[in-house]
Amino acid sequence: MQQRVAILISGGGSNMVSLLDSMDASHPARPVLVLSNEPQAGGLAKAAARGVETAVLDHRPFGRDRAAFEAALHARLVQAAPDIICLAGFMRILTEGFVRKWQGRMLNIHPSLLPKYKGLHTHQRALDAGDAEAGCSVHLVTLELDGGPIVEQARVAILPNDTAETLAARVLIEEHRLYPRALRALAMGQLPAAIALQQQAADDPA
Ligand code: GRF
Repeated sequence: MQQRVAILISGGGSNMVSLLDSMDASHPARPVLVLSNEPQAGGLAKAAARGVETAVLDHRPFGRDRAAFEAALHARLVQAAPDIICLAGFMRILTEGFVRKWQGRMLNIHPSLLPKYKGLHTHQRALDAGDAEAGCSVHLVTLELDGGPIVEQARVAILPNDTAETLAARVLIEEHRLYPRALRALAMGQLPAAIALQQQAADDPA
């Protein structure tokens, strides 16, 4: 039985495309929904062009009420019944109520070598620090922002003339290789950290 995957995006969705394109007929998972909180997200058309169901859930009408937004997000996801959720450039912070419901089943990709540079502007921060290398990480989503167990990382050398843009472009190439590998491993039940988090959630349901 293939695992069902929902992908959450906010933008162009290049990581989403790499995930969708990795899920061929023999893959242990298949995409069931791509959802964006941004109605204009370029990734929506790319998903639709690949025959994947899409949805928009604009966060703006919810104002500061994160709980209400997350309840609506959860309800829409439940309709699609995913086993796995991949955050792929999804630019909303998720809070406890939501995260606990998908604990051990939700991945995120972050453009830094975590635990370095959580949050935004990761490439500039790596350059400002004079780092010799940068990279990207796929991690399981827990309550700590960009802080859950790391599943896989890829490294990129920082070159003398790099700007945040040139570095981001090289890291993004690695992201597109890394995220499909991590999704496959989760779908195949090969991630002990995911199994532990799932077990914890089953023992102590939200
Ligand atoms: C990527 O760098 C990802 O690591 C970060 O946001 C960016 C999204 O790019 N979380 P895309 O929408 O996948 O092209």
